[in-house]
Amino acid sequence: MVMRFKHFIFALLAGLALILAVHAQDQPAGFISIACGLLANPSVTDEHTGLNYISDATFIDTGTSQSISSGFRGDNPPFLWNLRSFPQGNRNCYSINVTAGTKYLIRATFVYGNYDGKDNFPQFDLHLGQNMWDTIQVENSSSGFNKELIHVPSRNYIHVCLIDTGFGTPFISAIELRPLINTSYVTKSGSLALVDRWDVVGSKSDLRYWYPDDVHDRRWDPYNEVGWTNLSTPLIIDSQIHKDYQPPSIVMRTAATPVDDSAPLEFNWDSDNATSSEYYVYIHFAEVVKLKANQSRSFNITLNGKYWDGPIAPPYLSSSTVSSTSPISGEAKYDFSFIKTQNSTLPPILNAIEIYSVKYFLQSETEQGDVDAMEKIKSTYAMKRNWQGDPCAPKAYSWEGLNCSYNGYSPPRITSLNLSSSGLIGQISADISKLVMLQYLDLSNNSLTGSVPDFLSQLRYLIVLNLERNQLSGPIPAELIARSLRVFDNATNSTIIPSGGDNINSKPCGSGSCKKKDSIVVPIVVSLGVLLNVALIVIATLLLRRKRQDKTKAFAMVDTKSNIQKASLESIQRQFTYSELRNITNNFERIVGKGGFGTVYHGNIGNTQVAVKMISPSSTQGFQQFQSEVKLLMRVHHKNLTTLVGYYYEENNMGLIYEYMVNGDLKAHLSGENANILNWEHRLQIAMDAAQGLEYLHNGCKPPIIHRDVKPTNILLNENFHAKLADFGLSKTFPTDSGTHMSTVVAGTPGYLDPEYYISNWLTSRSDIYSFGVVLLEIITGRPAIEGSHEKTHISQWVRFMLDNGDIKNIVDTRLCRNFSINSAWKVVEIAMACVSPTLAERPTISQVVAELKECLAIELARTVEGHEGKPTNSIESMDMDLTTEVIPLAR
Ligand SMILES: *[C@@H]1O[C@H](CO)[C@@H](O)[C@H](O)[C@H]1NC(C)=O
Ligand SMILES: *[C@@H]1O[C@H](CO)[C@@H](O)[C@H](O)[C@H]1NC(C)=O
Ligand SMILES: *[C@@H]1O[C@H](CO)[C@@H](O)[C@H](O)[C@H]1NC(C)=O
Ligand SMILES: *[C@@H]1O[C@H](CO)[C@@H](O)[C@H](O)[C@H]1NC(C)=O
Ligand SMILES: *[C@@H]1O[C@H](CO)[C@@H](O)[C@H](O)[C@H]1NC(C)=O
Ligand SMILES: *[C@@H]1O[C@H](CO)[C@@H](O)[C@H](O)[C@H]1NC(C)=O
Ligand SMILES: *[C@@H]1O[C@H](CO)[C@@H](O)[C@H](O)[C@H]1NC(C)=O
Ligand SMILES: *[C@@H]1O[C@H](CO)[C@@H](O)[C@H](O)[C@H]1NC(C)=O
Ligand SMILES: *[C@@H]1O[C@H](CO)[C@@H](O)[C@H](O)[C@H]1NC(C)=O
Repeated sequence: MVMRFKHFIFALLAGLALILAVHAQDQPAGFISIACGLLANPSVTDEHTGLNYISDATFIDTGTSQSISSGFRGDNPPFLWNLRSFPQGNRNCYSINVTAGTKYLIRATFVYGNYDGKDNFPQFDLHLGQNMWDTIQVENSSSGFNKELIHVPSRNYIHVCLIDTGFGTPFISAIELRPLINTSYVTKSGSLALVDRWDVVGSKSDLRYWYPDDVHDRRWDPYNEVGWTNLSTPLIIDSQIHKDYQPPSIVMRTAATPVDDSAPLEFNWDSDNATSSEYYVYIHFAEVVKLKANQSRSFNITLNGKYWDGPIAPPYLSSSTVSSTSPISGEAKYDFSFIKTQNSTLPPILNAIEIYSVKYFLQSETEQGDVDAMEKIKSTYAMKRNWQGDPCAPKAYSWEGLNCSYNGYSPPRITSLNLSSSGLIGQISADISKLVMLQYLDLSNNSLTGSVPDFLSQLRYLIVLNLERNQLSGPIPAELIARSLRVFDNATNSTIIPSGGDNINSKPCGSGSCKKKDSIVVPIVVSLGVLLNVALIVIATLLLRRKRQDKTKAFAMVDTKSNIQKASLESIQRQFTYSELRNITNNFERIVGKGGFGTVYHGNIGNTQVAVKMISPSSTQGFQQFQSEVKLLMRVHHKNLTTLVGYYYEENNMGLIYEYMVNGDLKAHLSGENANILNWEHRLQIAMDAAQGLEYLHNGCKPPIIHRDVKPTNILLNENFHAKLADFGLSKTFPTDSGTHMSTVVAGTPGYLDPEYYISNWLTSRSDIYSFGVVLLEIITGRPAIEGSHEKTHISQWVRFMLDNGDIKNIVDTRLCRNFSINSAWKVVEIAMACVSPTLAERPTISQVVAELKECLAIELARTVEGHEGKPTNSIESMDMDLTTEVIPLAR
């Protein structure tokens, strides 16, 4: 809506007598009045309203103060004589403290006034925080115009941002916030942008009203139509009651009515966009004529010829407002008619109208914790960057040095912070650790001093931490080291196993210690895979240099070369050629499985059976990466992990040779494909085996290995029905071509994939725990992870339901014929449900799981040894029950 401030003058002259004097010091509660670019004085008082407009200096760091040319001053009140223009930066934002949850009228005013002497009208965008509010197109030097919004901020601040779209320098003259009553202007959803606000007068008038006539400082324009005439009363409307909308008495006491008694009263407007625009209209009525006994006034309202509301009989000297609960939409033009009802003796009247269009501000602000942390970091290091408005949103204007994760309309999260070469001085700020989703942190090449703080290890998703070229000193927190996985050296394309000085206690799996007294490479989590298009994969070097003069524990610059050499000393078990593979598999005669990574063939090396996994050539990875990955895996030895015997790589064809597991995978045994039903004890034993395998990956390996794809088909059984985990360390490295895998994400199988992963986008050892919990539930129930073709029910939901509604006997696989110890069943269900807890923190660690499973097994063994319940039926007689036997991997 365009407002002509010349009208201020008319208003001042004509309406002076009505104006109440308001002293600057008693500003109405909640009013915020900002005069942009006002520098000479801290504030200026508007004569008409008595409102005090304060300088914008405390609300924004950028922009330059300007003033409109003197020729245009007479047309505008003094609080609009200055403005702030933004020749620099694509986005400049005001940050204004408000009360969250309060409904505000927010008004931004623009008076160009040829402030730059160019007489060239700019065009730019106005954003409310992260959302587009409107496009500002200046069309006149002298007359200002404004944009109004009715909006409920969800935070204790709002950002009003000006966006340079390349059509001239953005500027702004004033920002006003006026609290409204929250029961007024209620929408189904969305905020309201003012289209028109009319004081219907029924005669020619130039009078405009706002504060103090309107307690909410809404601006009412006079409105009249041909064929209308005026009615009015000198009495006060709503002298006693103050309703939601509180239309001003001075506005309500004039009304229009048709000259022709029987004609309808009509008004209309054109839709901006018939398909997308939605409107709310608020029609205010008050009877201004004292009706005689034989008189009546009532009318119906129609919209585009259809009944909309009524009959309406406006109450005398009291305002009432008609509006709709849902927006009106879908029309090119909105025609309202007020039609006199049959028994009405008087024609309809109309006192005031407001029309608003709906604005949906869908993009969320960045998560509050992240915003608070960034604001503190900004002030701690006195950052001079253009860090304004919301840190992440909108995406196109996220703060320099930040990367965020966006998930639909949910609040963005900060995942990467690059403060490299930013002149940071002092210690590493604890506020950084509040950016809990951080995966990448680069503080290199600054003047940071002090120690490497412990709190960095709280960043559980951190993949890369770069502290190079600072003056940091002291030891590296042990937890940070414990979290480290491996370092990938770009220069040589090889993996470096973390090694350390005296205070570093980190050893890779297997042998191969790479200690070097005065060098240290501490990676955080680093992986090498090239995963579809997900490039989580970065190298990490936390290069720490102690001050040279500190002799006792001097760290030199990292000597990556020597580390790599030592890492390479790890001898590869065996690289096979294609013809060797052909021999081993007897020309790929017998297929024993098809997994996510390719086809598995049976083979023999001498007298030892092996499984040869041929990896689909779709994998994009190079030999060096493949080799370094394989080298690492070949050093992993545990009785509950399938042993990698060797590998094959020729012309982008890859193969892995594993020990052969005679009894196939757990899934076949649970699903009943096999005739034998695993009894309870065997099930617990298998669960134990798998848990111990996982425990070794998580805790026994330095760096730890996250399996990423724990599921029954990856739990293999040997001739003694001992279980071993397969496929660890692969999912992240090899893209999969199987339908059972998610095609767009890192790895994992539906049903087993940690739901938390969707939020964090980063798999942790707790994600393995979740998958393991699902496997446990399958072992207990004999049911698949996801059941039902239509209403897919996850096994955890089913068990939860059964726990709430039934008893344990109905949860445990009925094929066991209740042949199990109830206590152990309760316990193992409890463990499984804890593992699948949606909250990461509630999930046990794998060591806790192992300890609990041990107890379950002991309970069950006590029962079978006592022999009260006899031998389970259909059990596998040959099962090796010796818990303490260390099974030596078949092939090496
Ligand atoms: C806005 O609120 C924040 C946090 O309460 C406070 O630190 C800041 O000084 C306030 N800004 C202004 C301009 O009052
Ligand atoms: C600008 O607006 C004023 C007031 O409405 C009007 O008198 C003037 O002619 C307009 N100027 C231009 C260039 O349109
Ligand atoms: C208005 O605010 C009051 C108190 O602040 C609250 O109880 C009420 O639910 C709000 N009503 C609406 C429609 O938001
Ligand atoms: C209607 O408007 C005319 C012209 O402005 C004015 O002279 C007259 O007094 C008004 N009538 C009433 C009833 O307000
Ligand atoms: C109307 O809005 C729709 C949906 O936003 C858009 O696709 C269309 O281009 C708009 N039409 C016009 C004439 O602006
Ligand atoms: C007009 O008629 C309606 C229904 O016929 C009635 O409810 C209403 O009171 C009448 N109005 C007057 C002013 O008599
Ligand atoms: C006005 O609306 C009422 C209620 O829907 C209806 O009964 C009546 O016929 C309408 N009168 C006219 C003149 O449309
Ligand atoms: C390492 O190589 C990757 C891929 O070529 C590249 O994206 C990354 O920036 C490199 N890292 C460093 C520190 O050079
Ligand atoms: C590392 O791998 C890249 C891409 O595969 C290759 O271009 C580069 O030459 C390799 N570097 C070394 C030192 O092998």
